[in-house]
Amino acid sequence: MKLKWSDVTPEADYLSRRVFLAAGAASIAGPALGLTGKPSGLSTDEKPNSLEEITNYNNFYEFGTGKTDPAQFSGSLKTSPWSVRIDGMVERPGSYGVEDLAPDAALEERIYRLRCVEAWSMVIPWLGVPLSSVLNKAGPQPGAKYVAFQTLLDPDQMRGQGRGSGIDWPYREGLRLDEAMHPLTILATGLYGQVLPNQNGAPIRLVVPWKYGFKSIKSIVAITLTDKQPPTTWQMLQPSEYGFYANVNPQVDHPRWSQATERRIGAGLLGGREETLMFNGYADQVAGLYSGMDLARHY
Ligand code: MTE
Repeated sequence: MKLKWSDVTPEADYLSRRVFLAAGAASIAGPALGLTGKPSGLSTDEKPNSLEEITNYNNFYEFGTGKTDPAQFSGSLKTSPWSVRIDGMVERPGSYGVEDLAPDAALEERIYRLRCVEAWSMVIPWLGVPLSSVLNKAGPQPGAKYVAFQTLLDPDQMRGQGRGSGIDWPYREGLRLDEAMHPLTILATGLYGQVLPNQNGAPIRLVVPWKYGFKSIKSIVAITLTDKQPPTTWQMLQPSEYGFYANVNPQVDHPRWSQATERRIGAGLLGGREETLMFNGYADQVAGLYSGMDLARHY
């Protein structure tokens, strides 16, 4: 699999969708464990996508660039035991188990809109904990300004990390510390009442609902607090197209396509496009984080 940044287009997305429809819904990889999450006032009241849609139309390039590749190939990922290293500018660096960071009893249900930079969207009922609760366990030092995240690096388990993929693995993402501490930002360990399926980023992934989906990094093994803006995978690959902030913004187009509208997965080919909302519909909660910033320059 040789990835070129120009492979990522809404047209490619549309074609993969047709493959998906033709293939029918495949089975999901995650075990049903009857997890529950406390309801949260932060959920949308929009109807969630089906479990089949959420688990069979994925971006997880560690398993291939096709939308059904993650469902097909992520079974090779061993998600237990798993630990997350928290280091950098924290008072209590260390390796933490997933159950330490996101105990089942603490899980909240967060039904969030997900808007991909490729101009499709879904609604997903996540189970997770606020990232702030995790960062507070580690204790950010006063000078910390950013949080950097890394996905597992293991080509034996992640076939897409083999040589020649074009990406400088591991997948990396980052947030400003105030974005990371925002109540909407969660680490998810489940969805639809079950343990997170591998294709959705098991055992623990970030979810930042007001940013394009590529910020929501999957299968996290390291969280590093730093005073410098960290390099991030898509920005390293094509900085003129993908920025550090990546806030959903219908007024700032991608250089190769409009971001004004989106296609809701599951709406059917005749379902029509919906208008994309500023900050993906979360403007009331997050616009204040960016007051005074030129969002066309900081895309
Ligand atoms: N995380 C890793 N490690 N690798 C990826 O390729 N893709 C991102 C994001 N997180 C990606 C990732 C993109 S582009 C999107 S849209 C979301 O995951 C998709 O999440 P989902 O498959 O659970 O819907």
